[in-house]
Amino acid sequence: MKSLILAVLRFYASSIGKKIVVALSALGLLGFLVGHLAGNLLIFKGPDAINAYAAQLHDLGGLLWVARIGLLVLVGVHIAATLQLAAANRAARPQEYVVSATLRATRSSRLMVLSGLTILVFVIYHLLHFTVGNLHGFYDADGAYRLEDGRQNVYKMMVDGFRVWFNSGFYLLALGLLASHLSHGVSSLFQTLGLTTPRTRPLFRLAGWGFAVVICGGFASIPVAVLAGLLK
Ligand code: HEM
Repeated sequence: MKSLILAVLRFYASSIGKKIVVALSALGLLGFLVGHLAGNLLIFKGPDAINAYAAQLHDLGGLLWVARIGLLVLVGVHIAATLQLAAANRAARPQEYVVSATLRATRSSRLMVLSGLTILVFVIYHLLHFTVGNLHGFYDADGAYRLEDGRQNVYKMMVDGFRVWFNSGFYLLALGLLASHLSHGVSSLFQTLGLTTPRTRPLFRLAGWGFAVVICGGFASIPVAVLAGLLK
């Protein structure tokens, strides 16, 4: 057991070990995003569909908490390993840039740290807004977001939330940064997995952008539909 822990720590201490940890935690987070988007898009099927889905999630009880803690661990590990990698890259950076590709790589990894931290701020705001604020009664003292049977009226909560233009604006800004983060992240993932060659690189870059546009466009469709009056 002790030697296994030591082997894991030794693996993590290497740069490739950290990259693989970043890639695996990213895969877990991407899985969450796909599931979260699929659930949220039920809003277009109407109040009953999204409210029933939210009730099913909450009925998971203990399991929901296991999933939440798992998600938190993934986020923590992803951030810690990324920041350590960024610090190691900075320490190894030459004083003068000789090759413009080095400069580009440094800029894009700096953008990854910046967009990643903005997404973290967004997620904290998002949790305070929806999960803590509306669902757990902080803003909901008069039961505005409860149905007659006591279940949560997630549909109304989303529509009311996104009617506030600066709230929707912040979501759209964060989703734009998430798209940039995902597009770069997904194409780097292929690189870490050793699948990138000069021939496949443009293909994986396109796959990164395609994934980012589908995911972020899907999320963005909800505030946009509310602001356009399509969801009321
Ligand atoms: C228009 C976009 C989005 C909408 C309408 C939305 C909606 C929601 C709602 C209603 C909840 C509460 C779920 C519940 O407890 O029943 C929630 C939770 C959450 N959302 Fe989102 N979300 C959006 C985008 C995102 C994005 C882009 C991320 C991540 C980058 C994200 C991360 C989370 C997390 C981590 C939770 C907490 C999960 C939990 O407590 O179990 N959401 N979201």
